[in-house]
Amino acid sequence: MNKNGKQAINQAHKNVGNDPLPGLYVHWPYCVSKCPYCDFNSHVRQVFDERQYVKAICSEIDYLIALQADRGDSKPLLGSIFFGGGTPSLMQPQTVGALLEFVRSRFSLAADVEITLEANPSSVEASRFKALGEVGINRVSLGVQALHDEALKVLGRAHGVEEALAAIALAQQSFTRSSFDLIYGRHGQQLAQWREELKRGIELSNGHLSLYQLTIEEGTQYKNLYDRGELNLPSDDRSIRFFEETRKICDAAGLHAYEISNYASRGEQSRHNLVYWRYGSYMGVGPGAHGRIERAGDRLATAVIRSPKRWMAQVNELGHGFESMDKLSHDEMADEMLLMGLRLTQGVDLARLQALCGVAIKAQKIDELVSAGLCEMSSNDEFLRTSDRGICVLNQIVEQLSGALEPA
Ligand SMILES: C[S@@+](CC[C@H](N)C(=O)[O-])C[C@H]1O[C@@H](n2cnc3c(N)ncnc32)[C@H](O)[C@@H]1O
Ligand code: SF4
Repeated sequence: MNKNGKQAINQAHKNVGNDPLPGLYVHWPYCVSKCPYCDFNSHVRQVFDERQYVKAICSEIDYLIALQADRGDSKPLLGSIFFGGGTPSLMQPQTVGALLEFVRSRFSLAADVEITLEANPSSVEASRFKALGEVGINRVSLGVQALHDEALKVLGRAHGVEEALAAIALAQQSFTRSSFDLIYGRHGQQLAQWREELKRGIELSNGHLSLYQLTIEEGTQYKNLYDRGELNLPSDDRSIRFFEETRKICDAAGLHAYEISNYASRGEQSRHNLVYWRYGSYMGVGPGAHGRIERAGDRLATAVIRSPKRWMAQVNELGHGFESMDKLSHDEMADEMLLMGLRLTQGVDLARLQALCGVAIKAQKIDELVSAGLCEMSSNDEFLRTSDRGICVLNQIVEQLSGALEPA
């Protein structure tokens, strides 16, 4: 065993309490139109009774609180709330306000609670930003996706660049924090074009950007186009170049990668998303939402019915729309924690892995991956992370680490 391996094990015996505060995820399942690349649980529907939706979400939250009653805290603490979708900015601000009022009545919110809402940059939605800020949203994540009109058309987006620029400006005025998403490695996109687009994006940004490389998902229109050879996407080698250039350009501008697709200046990271990546606990409510919650010392993986119609029917009947609530074994927890944690630049906290999952990674495997240049130990030897090279083969690394777990 080399020094890195030994120190990793020694360090893992220290139980450091590095748990993120619990979060709450609320899924809104509707969009104005369905984008051809998107496999999120999003549906197109023009008319929807928002009061009924609020009632159902509140009922589901109460169900989860009752389920975790053994914790004994009359008002559990929340560090973050995230309205995701779909397009939650289609909700009326008073709907969001009613949900937040209910959440405040059931939870104590951390003094610096982060309350994010995902928004599309159409003018109708942007006109609601001020009111959304007034009801308590303090961070917005805008789906800009591209800074060229032609590219937005190919992505099937319902907005143009002018609208996006206006929405970015309004978001920065209306909320304490804001971020926007861009997709790169798009149909026909050249690296030189992306460099220019990214630099413009950085100039427009305010401390945080989500930069996703386009992925082809099963069941999407893009998958059909791709299978018919009608999408001109970068090869694997070119994709790595896109990724590396993205990191380099962001880094030089002070936006540091803290996760594979997320870049932030100091203190601007999304606290809610860090809960997932650090394998904290979070409740997930609304159609298709996932959660990881603690009950009687166990960790449960929860999943809500995806279809909004069937979800609503079950909530009306049973008071919740959960379709599964499975106790995770220690090995399953460790696999999940590695998969999530190795997405982070910081890596996985080995002491927390041991404390939460009751397992450790065999020192020999850590040595092997470090020697192969695929993983690194942090300078304080507390975190195992992928190297720049390793991040491109993340799934293989997780598989190898998962196969090298032993009881702590
Ligand atoms: C669930 S969407 C919600 C945001 C909002 N509805 C929107 O589209 O602007 C979250 C983000 O995932 C990204 N995304 C969705 N599908 C993707 C794909 N196939 N490849 C890369 N990024 C994708 C987009 O950047 C999008 O903003
Ligand atoms: S607006 Fe967002 S969630 Fe809706 S279909 Fe498009 S990418 Fe998916």
